[in-house]
Parts: sequence; structure tokens; C-alpha cells
Amino acid sequence: MEKILEVRDLRKTYGDKESAVKALDGIDLDVFEGELLVILGSSGSGKSTLLNLLGGMDQPDGGSIWFRGKEISHLKDRDLTKYRKNNVGFVFQAFNLIGEMTVYENVALTADAKKDPQIVDHVLELVGIQDKKKKYPSHLSGGEQQRVAIARALAGKADMLLCDEPTGALDYETGKQILAELETLSRKHKKTVLIVTHTKEIAQMGDRVITMRDGKIVSVTENESPVSVERIEW
Ligand SMILES: Nc1ncnc2c1ncn2[C@@H]1O[C@H](COP(=O)(O)OP(=O)(O)O)[C@@H](O)[C@H]1O
Ligand SMILES: [Mg+2]
Repeated sequence: MEKILEVRDLRKTYGDKESAVKALDGIDLDVFEGELLVILGSSGSGKSTLLNLLGGMDQPDGGSIWFRGKEISHLKDRDLTKYRKNNVGFVFQAFNLIGEMTVYENVALTADAKKDPQIVDHVLELVGIQDKKKKYPSHLSGGEQQRVAIARALAGKADMLLCDEPTGALDYETGKQILAELETLSRKHKKTVLIVTHTKEIAQMGDRVITMRDGKIVSVTENESPVSVERIEW
């Protein structure tokens, strides 16, 4: 299988001297095209920091990240922004939608949507929220808002979705539906999907599971036959 990401000895420290925190302390990781990868770890273990670096939201202090063979870890801001826009879709716990814009407008914000307006209806339909496109985020349920955020991530035509605790602000059933949505995007639409969570049971849905502790990867497990999220309970 082709690698989409190759990470070597990745390091990130916050603060300095006595107050320095090693958020990432030498991460080595390969991610494969079309893979569904679950990242487990308790709060503070470095999961968000890792996702942010992989998505070009921030720069590492050491080590390297290659995306499809091209090093992105030392790009200038402008090139890093280009990398992010062309290749990465982010889904956050807090949805991060713009309250003053309708569902349609939130999704249409992405650069690719400006070039290709049809993509907006396409991705809204893909996540089953097309009938809400004229509504404002505050008039939607949490699950609906997260669907919009996923649609927005997809509208950029990104092949890779980085999801940071995407169900963290949702109730159990809604969270499950959102994970099923991400599962479909991986299995049916061949997206590479990384899901950060601290719910151990969710790991069963992944092709692989990595566990982080204190900025390090402490285990990597391969699931021979991943379990569909519909059949997982937690
Ligand atoms: N912007 C920041 N400034 C200072 N410390 C930070 C910052 N972001 C994260 N950290 C610290 O880095 C460590 C890893 O954080 P994070 O990547 O957010 O972990 P997780 O997502 O697993 O909860 C934690 O100790 C956290 O307090
Ligand atoms: Mg986090």
C-alpha cells in the first residue's frame, strides 16, 4: 500500500526552560492511502498536537513529515497554507462553523467550492444535510452541525480528513452516526481518515490503532477485520 504520510522523529515542545512541555517526543508513523486510523490516548498525550502538525496548522521543532513523498515539515507559511487547502480536511470537536453564515455559505467558503459551486450541493448530499442548506448553524442540532463541518472538510476535495475528537460534543447516538459517516467516507469513498478519540471501544473500527502517552506512540495495533461502528457499543 502507498504511504500518504511518513513521519520521522517528530518533536514539538511548548514553553521554555523549566516550564517546557514535550508535547511530541519523537513520533515515527506511516499512514497509508485510504486507511482508517484511530489515535487513542488520554488527555494531554499529544494527540491534537500531532494532528495539527500533520495538517500543516503548525510547525514542528524537530523531525520530518512527508506527504506523498514531499516534505511539508519545513515549508514556508504560504506553501504550508497551500498544502493544507489542497490536501487536508479538518473536523473538530467544536464544529467551528461561522455563525453568521448559512450551511451553504459555510461550505462554499472553501477555495475549491468557489471554483466549482456544484461541489457544495454534492458534499451536503453526501452527509445527508442538503435540506438544511439555508439554515444557520444555531438552528441545527449538534450532529447536524458536525455533518456540515464534515461537508466543509470534504468540499476542499481533500483526500485526507483529520478528525480531532469529532464526537466529543455529541450525545451517544449522534456521535455514533457521525463516526458511521466517517467510516463510509473511508470505506466507500477511499478517503484517508484519522480519528482522535479517548474512547477505547471506538478503536475497533480502525484499520490500525495507535496509542499515545506523554508525546510518544506506545503501541500500534493492526485490526485484521475492523468492526463496523454500528456494531460497536461503548
Ligand atoms: N499551545 C500550547 N501551549 C502550551 N502547551 C500546550 C499547547 N498545546 C498543547 N500543550 C501541552 O502539550 C501537551 C499535549 O497537548 P495536546 O496535544 O493538546 O494533547 P491531547 O490532544 O492528547 O489532549 C499537553 O501537556 C498540553 O498541555
Ligand atoms: Mg486534544
